[in-house]
Amino acid sequence: MSQSILIRGGSVVNADCETRADVLCIDGVIAAVGEGAAALAPAGCEVLDASGQYVVPGGIDPHTHMQLPFMGTVTMDDFYTGTAAAMAGGTTSIIDFVIPNPQQPLLEAYQTWRGWAEKSASDYSFHMAITWWDESVRHDMGTLVREEGINSFKHFMAYKNAIMCDDETLVNSFRRALELGAMPTVHAENGELVYLLQQEVQKMGITGPEGHPLSRPPMVEGEAANRAIAIADVLGVPIYVVHVSCIESAEAIARARARGQRVYGEVLAGHLVVDDSVYRDPDFTKAAAHVMSPPFRPKEHQEALWRGLQSGQLHTTATDHCTFCAEQKRMGAENFAKIPNGTGGVEERMAVLWSAGVNTGRLTPSEWVAITSANAAKLFNIYPKKGCVAVGADADLVLWDPAGTKTLSVKTQHSKGDYNIFEGMALTGVPSHTISQGRLVYANGDLRAVRGAGRYLKRPAFGAGFAAAEKRARELAPTAVVRT
Ligand code: URP
Ligand code: ZN
Ligand code: ZN
Ligand code: ZN
Repeated sequence: MSQSILIRGGSVVNADCETRADVLCIDGVIAAVGEGAAALAPAGCEVLDASGQYVVPGGIDPHTHMQLPFMGTVTMDDFYTGTAAAMAGGTTSIIDFVIPNPQQPLLEAYQTWRGWAEKSASDYSFHMAITWWDESVRHDMGTLVREEGINSFKHFMAYKNAIMCDDETLVNSFRRALELGAMPTVHAENGELVYLLQQEVQKMGITGPEGHPLSRPPMVEGEAANRAIAIADVLGVPIYVVHVSCIESAEAIARARARGQRVYGEVLAGHLVVDDSVYRDPDFTKAAAHVMSPPFRPKEHQEALWRGLQSGQLHTTATDHCTFCAEQKRMGAENFAKIPNGTGGVEERMAVLWSAGVNTGRLTPSEWVAITSANAAKLFNIYPKKGCVAVGADADLVLWDPAGTKTLSVKTQHSKGDYNIFEGMALTGVPSHTISQGRLVYANGDLRAVRGAGRYLKRPAFGAGFAAAEKRARELAPTAVVRT
């Protein structure tokens, strides 16, 4: 039976413009936008009154870790609870990560993650992490791109003795990604320096969570960002830096972009509003709850990240949603380096960005749409199917109530995590309704997420930047001197 929703009287906000328009969704797709939409509504169509509200594309969180086995344990949120929480906050798609163990075949890990993700309530996709290198990895990258719709590869430059990539792997993988038209992405932290500093901080007798930021200072991130960007420049491949947390890496991106390099940066909602004072909390549980990498930074870095988003030098916002409970965090009670790294936020991201971004005048509603959905959709090549309110796009929509209020708390969150890094933050501007695949999945506090309703999103290779990169390489290709 056909399922339809008519959204009346709202202000439609896309990344490029804002217009008053009705929106008609039929069978999971946007069927009409504008004046004539109401007239096309079939009999029995559900009608939502959006007067006084914005109608925006469902959020895309391009960086989550649901059900991730990491540092000897597994995250609290699985693909169902994590995506359900996401939809309560207006996020209707996530891009998670397949992370093979070193030496594990990529396709085997991919199948494992696909199995875990079948319970997703929202649509989802995967970046593939490259954690080791040989000919089979090169081969499997091709299969994943051509047959499985993976168009981005992640490289952890930190986590030595676990999933860290050395420069040889970065070079091999970046070159292969370019051939395949897939985006290389990096977690930029110098893993050798982190390893050394972890031992040195321990030797100083600092074993608690306050040692975590001391072992990962901003320049450790800046060095890795500069190195990855330089490698990408030499190879002529675009690059995307995940969770840019500090001035040093934001500047590395801005410098490269000023040189004309295609470099993109992602910012986490947490890094924009939480600072490093949390690590000195006398309560171990609270301090440890904030252990994630890169760590929260002194306040001056937050302003730099906001400026990066405002100026267009940084492009997407994510959460790195990766929840471990207090008991799991206690694995590092004697040694901060053993505290499982990760924090939540998938439910809070859109509203935190609205309150701290739009309400403060840093961002327009359209700029907010760009950094919460449209830019991620463009960079990972699912635009305008996702990230856009337009005829033919997926009916993933949010009715955003700019006057609605909420105080964030672990007590009211949907995530299974037992901590909220935004605890007590009073927000104005919240989602009133979330529509996923043309179905109402959240309405004024009532979450109707359906286990297994989410679809796997295949993302085609050769997004816009790649054709240009290829042309540029041909244009600048060196030639031999023809001598007679
Ligand atoms: O601390 C974090 N970010 N945990 C998840 C793994 C990663 O580095 O993205
Ligand atoms: Zn990371
Ligand atoms: Zn991550
Ligand atoms: Zn527990």
